Amino acid sequence: MDPRPEPEACRPQDWGKFEIISRDGAARIGKFHTFHGAITTPMLLPVVNPNLRTIEPREMWEKYGVEALITNSYVIWKHEKLTNPAKSDGIHKLLDFPGAVVTDSGTFQSYVYGDVEVSPSEIVSFQREIGVDVGTMLDVFGRPDMSREEIESSVDETFRRADDSLTEAGDKILLNGPIQGGLHHDLRARSAELMGQAGTEVSFAIHPIGGIVPLMEQQRYRELFGIILAARSHIPPDRPIHMFGCGHPMLFPLSIALGVDLFDSAAYALFARDDRILTPDGTVRIEGLNEWPISSSALFGKTPKMVLSMSKDERSKILAHHNLEVTQSELARCREAIRNGTIWKLAEIRSHASPRLRDAFEWVIDQLEELEDTEVGSSLLDLMASTNPIRRGGESVSDDLGSRPHILHLLALFSLRWRAPGSWWDGSTGPPEKILLVDNASPPWRESSLGSIVQYLIGTPKTVVLVSTPLGPVPYSFEDVSPLCHLDGPEIIWMDQTEPSIAPEEISYLGLEGLPVDILESPMSLDESSKDIEEVRSWLDRCSVVDKLSVFCGIHPLQLCQVSRSMESRRSNTDRMVNVSFNGEHVLSPRLKDGGISLTAEGARILHSLNPNPPELFGKDSQEEEQDFPGIPRVMISDDAIPFVGKGRNVMHGYVLGADSHLTPGQPCIIVSEEGILVAHGVPICTSREMAYFKKGIAIKVRDGCLKE
Ligand code: GUN
Repeated sequence: MDPRPEPEACRPQDWGKFEIISRDGAARIGKFHTFHGAITTPMLLPVVNPNLRTIEPREMWEKYGVEALITNSYVIWKHEKLTNPAKSDGIHKLLDFPGAVVTDSGTFQSYVYGDVEVSPSEIVSFQREIGVDVGTMLDVFGRPDMSREEIESSVDETFRRADDSLTEAGDKILLNGPIQGGLHHDLRARSAELMGQAGTEVSFAIHPIGGIVPLMEQQRYRELFGIILAARSHIPPDRPIHMFGCGHPMLFPLSIALGVDLFDSAAYALFARDDRILTPDGTVRIEGLNEWPISSSALFGKTPKMVLSMSKDERSKILAHHNLEVTQSELARCREAIRNGTIWKLAEIRSHASPRLRDAFEWVIDQLEELEDTEVGSSLLDLMASTNPIRRGGESVSDDLGSRPHILHLLALFSLRWRAPGSWWDGSTGPPEKILLVDNASPPWRESSLGSIVQYLIGTPKTVVLVSTPLGPVPYSFEDVSPLCHLDGPEIIWMDQTEPSIAPEEISYLGLEGLPVDILESPMSLDESSKDIEEVRSWLDRCSVVDKLSVFCGIHPLQLCQVSRSMESRRSNTDRMVNVSFNGEHVLSPRLKDGGISLTAEGARILHSLNPNPPELFGKDSQEEEQDFPGIPRVMISDDAIPFVGKGRNVMHGYVLGADSHLTPGQPCIIVSEEGILVAHGVPICTSREMAYFKKGIAIKVRDGCLKE
């Protein structure tokens, strides 16, 4: 097989930029651009000790696809036999590694040994001299056992060194700006804010979270994740977040789900030297093993006994190879989970690996449910709001189902924006008089229960129809919305959801408490001869369109009722609504795969006419009033992008001038000019806060340009 080709240097204008390719809430597949190629994140930078290479960097590149590694510039600076070749030939040659090289600065050594002999500017200038891709400034390690005053001074001193370090780095190397702050959430947020703003000509490219190694050693995971969330609340969203010294695969899924992009660790080599192997569920000592608890190509064909009988060196090498392989494959799994929207599920599964990790996971979901006005609460609110509430594919039912961020988001949107109809299929108006709760029925509900629902409504028009789910009762309008219709579990999860009668708190989130409830437990037979059937079905379809547009796009239901007065829809062979027209014009289609809404250009025009002003520019103090129904989210782009976007090209970061704060990744938005003219409509990949920061990559996948001739 041909050796893996050397990386292509990124374009100078892209150097140091980060772009999002795909996301699942706070978790993101990113590309970080360096002089030695683009790195796909989340990824682990294996630590290479230049004095002791357990696995050759070249082999990491060729065999394990490692795109970047980390080594310690202080170790190289201190050892003359390394300093000179590093200075004359460069770090890439010294290590024999063609990808990106990241270096640390000696801070960790100062934590372990008490001091280092190098000054902050000396170590940055040395990293520049040896040609690293990303260097690290000499930050001040804040230990968890330090007093608040000591931690404050580590945050302040690190920031005090930041500007000079950035000036010293110049535009020849990128620089890590570590976040300190110990266990104090406010200090973590302060450190993130200060380090995020540091620099005049150049800024930090990446923000590692520092001072956390002792927490990982002591398995204090609850505090660890609290710190990550607190720091993330103030880290500029266009910069990758790195967890300094974290390399246990067990911690990857939850860290990634909370927004971490980079890891680094020597764990693969250190554990190997100690005769331990890594698995995604924890660490296993090989002594006494009869068989391997996990397979890898490194261990294939060898028994634990054979490995134990090898020389210490040979054994460490084989185990280190295994450990690196497992680490890489768990990261690949995490990336794939981001692509298919299951990173939270993976974090949930992995949380059972250790009681301490489970405790930390449960703490995170408690915080998610409470969303207090703290650094952690604001970070989690941002996480939830950036999560697409609609997603394809099965959603496995577990005890934690109701705490998954996309489910919480979906239920929060129902609670905020769903309103009971005010006009009914028979032409009557006024508030609902009854609730019909479809119980003991599994999805698709239109197959199991539509006939009964129609029969009931013929007799009792002023009725709100709800279906029972393991998440509680939800409006029938969303019966085809995934994950609701794809909850995956044994049949029993659909049985006796509500007994013997509905509890008020189960429907109070929809504002329906106090209404009498009829429970539909077994099918009613539909009187096929009734002339009202089509009328009732059309009304149900219209409710579904109005409800979805109000809940997912934030449009007022009364406005929607007006524009949809003459709604017509075509049905598929399987009797599902496909094309929806207002006044004879095709305006949208409910997506068969996930029950979401796909707008047409005409649909975008109508929704734009209901919300015709341009959104606020980024950077202005928001005058936006908090509203339940702020209208279809709008994104304002600069004039130079209009000719392209107006013809249907995607909106790229850097051309966005402003966006509504309720923009949700994965849900429809419209794109307007500075004057508020409709240019296109599409689906955003990012939140509005992210659009204000990112400089590279796609911001909105455009579905239709609205300025085509
Ligand atoms: N490696 C592990 N923790 C740290 C830290 O806090 N700072 C730096 N520079 N390196 C680290």
